[in-house]
Amino acid sequence: MKTVKLDIKYSEYSSLEEMCPADQALVREAIEAQKGSYAPYSRFNVGAAVLLEDGTVIRGSNQENAAYPSGLCAERTAIFAASSQRPELRDYEALAIAARDARGTLCEASPCGACRQVLAEYESLQGHPLRIVLLLADGRARVVPSVADLLPFSFAM
Ligand code: THU
Repeated sequence: MKTVKLDIKYSEYSSLEEMCPADQALVREAIEAQKGSYAPYSRFNVGAAVLLEDGTVIRGSNQENAAYPSGLCAERTAIFAASSQRPELRDYEALAIAARDARGTLCEASPCGACRQVLAEYESLQGHPLRIVLLLADGRARVVPSVADLLPFSFAM
């Protein structure tokens, strides 16, 4: 028997301006993407933006439904759109997420377990890290270098 300890590394920024220009731009895309959110039930508007290896940005937002489980998070909407629209380039550099609560205040949204599983499969397919950029409250941000850090032991076939 052996006990294994996992370590994860991530970066915290006290303002967007501290981040690299590519991540700042991607967060702004995620904020823009909130405009497409359809969230009449939770009133929690989430935008996501995926940066493809060729520089293209594809946006997604959460889409809810009266049959609650039929809705989809912003992260999966964005990455499924990217995979559908650009199947020849399933190679993603980063994904940014920006949420706004019912009062309209920007706040933290960390990807749910199902989104982590989906993102982990695309990361494993491309063979290099997919960076996750989270806009937090008060203009702060967190950057996690790889989806594997967010979901160790993800399911794969
Ligand atoms: N949601 C996202 O789109 N992404 C997250 O990271 C967390 C939650 C959505 C799902 C639902 O429409 C609403 O936010 C409240 O859970």
